[in-house]
Amino acid sequence: MTIKKVGVLGCGLMGSGIAQVAATAGYDVLVLEQEQRFLDKGFAGIEKSLAKFAEKGTIKEPAETIRGRLKGTTDRNVMAQCDIVVEAIIENVEEKKKMFAALDGIVKKDSIFASNTSSISITEVAAATKRPERFVGLHFFNPVPLMKLVEVVRTIATKDDTFEAAFEFGKSLGKVPVRTSDKTGFIVNRLLVPYLLDAIRAYEEGVGSIPDIDNAMKLGCGYPMGPFTLLDFVGLDTTYYITHVMFDEFKERRFASPPLLKRLVMAGWYGRKTGKGFYDYADPSNPAPLKF
Ligand code: 3HC
Repeated sequence: MTIKKVGVLGCGLMGSGIAQVAATAGYDVLVLEQEQRFLDKGFAGIEKSLAKFAEKGTIKEPAETIRGRLKGTTDRNVMAQCDIVVEAIIENVEEKKKMFAALDGIVKKDSIFASNTSSISITEVAAATKRPERFVGLHFFNPVPLMKLVEVVRTIATKDDTFEAAFEFGKSLGKVPVRTSDKTGFIVNRLLVPYLLDAIRAYEEGVGSIPDIDNAMKLGCGYPMGPFTLLDFVGLDTTYYITHVMFDEFKERRFASPPLLKRLVMAGWYGRKTGKGFYDYADPSNPAPLKF
């Protein structure tokens, strides 16, 4: 099947990133949001990011040409002609099911539905539609315009041609797709989440300070960010939510939230986005590590 028109549901950090890479790859992109102000915020981020790429000369076309392929809407009926719809709304299974069930009656029957969820069962969301065989996971990584990976997730119901079309679509976005199945966490979070939680436990047990643990993993293993910097970057609320879904699925301690993560989330310290997490971002260019 030929994909020409891409629909993106949600214009937050992930949705706007997905829309940006699809438009950069030459697709016409329609982004659906609940309110115009969310579209405005997301598109402002896209323009900033495209300007950076233009400055570095890493995009083949002028930023305005790419921006011209992006349209925002608050009317779900205009998604009808999209060949693929990629969802990146709130991580709430009921909201995702409601959204896809509604779009199922609007979007062309042979179009592909994809969810960018990091932890919710694709099978469960797909079952809320009449096209579970045309449903996959497409899990991108933050920041989407820079991170090369996309996990392409198949459920027990996904048809081969749908999976292959989604895989090729991932490639066409300039990403490296990997094949995985609908087991909570897929590949990356299955391995990453226990590592991040172990870093918090190591800190709780007095193994090292927050900057020392970060530096140890950054400089000792060549990771771009230490675990606490990455936790603050991903969002402690997001990580906490993922631990619940993963623990519920596997019932293993390695996926359980350490008490300190829960306390930070309860305090509303979600990391970079709230100005405080394991670091204080009062001066964003020089985050100050906290002590607990
Ligand atoms: N668009 C365009 N350019 C951007 C950008 C964006 N959105 N974000 C950053 N950049 C640019 C910066 O401006 C900078 O440009 P410069 O070299 O001209 O100054 C360049 O990219 C590099 O950025 P930084 O200097 O700020 O920092 P780094 O060199 O460390 O690179 C990074 C940033 C790519 C984010 C790198 O630190 C990294 O790879 N970190 C790990 C990220 C990661 O692991 N993400 C996955 C999280 S898990 C996830 O998403 C799954 C979910 O389910 C939880």
